[in-house]
Amino acid sequence: MGKDVIVACDFDSAEKTFAFLDLFTGKKPFVKIGMELYYAEGPDIVREIKKRGHKIFLDLKLHDIPNTVKKSMAVLSRLDVDMCNLHAAGTIPMMQAAIEGLTREDGSRPMLIAVTQLTSTDQETMQRDLLISEPIDEVVMHYAANAKTAGLDGVVCSPLEAAKVHERCGADFMTVTPGVRFADGDKGDQKRVMTPEEAKKIGSDYIVVGRPITAAQDPVAAYERCIREFVG
Ligand code: C5P
Repeated sequence: MGKDVIVACDFDSAEKTFAFLDLFTGKKPFVKIGMELYYAEGPDIVREIKKRGHKIFLDLKLHDIPNTVKKSMAVLSRLDVDMCNLHAAGTIPMMQAAIEGLTREDGSRPMLIAVTQLTSTDQETMQRDLLISEPIDEVVMHYAANAKTAGLDGVVCSPLEAAKVHERCGADFMTVTPGVRFADGDKGDQKRVMTPEEAKKIGSDYIVVGRPITAAQDPVAAYERCIREFVG
């Protein structure tokens, strides 16, 4: 499995996205397209970025009945994305249906990873609003194990959870980790952060980095620093 840095293109228009991507004249970064950009520009933004030679993680976090997720995943698979995701809370049958939908006639498919509990959900809100009384760490690990049972490739998690996920689900089960900051950088609204070097040591397979690159004075230099520290 190739370790790589995924750049979160959290922009609200194609214009801003391309102004940013045009800066990269050498290696084309693996990019993450989230709901904001996808809902603003539709599937054409995916086709266009793909045409420019980038790998794409389409972060749309699907969660619906299995049949709807299966059919939607088939559409995303035809868009030729490299990675996409869903909520593990949709249960194992939904995740299995997603894999079926994603798998192309030739047997290939994009990587599929699961969101466990969002990092915006804490123990208290999980208990109060979702009536889940187990400790949140166990819930996260249980959801990761469900994703593995369903045949998914990995989970999105905090770098602090990556080692535990590997322990429970195996070294091949991918951990894709946001919440990455340079040692000398601004944390922004991320509370539990790690440097690219620490994320590498702890065993993250992919790091997702947004503002430390997109808001840097020299985004290409910041991206190259991430690659140096994380991939080596
Ligand atoms: O700018 P920053 O590096 O904080 O961006 C991180 C990216 O990862 C954003 O697109 C954010 O939505 C996403 N993300 C996150 N924490 C999660 C899941 C996704 O920061 N738990």
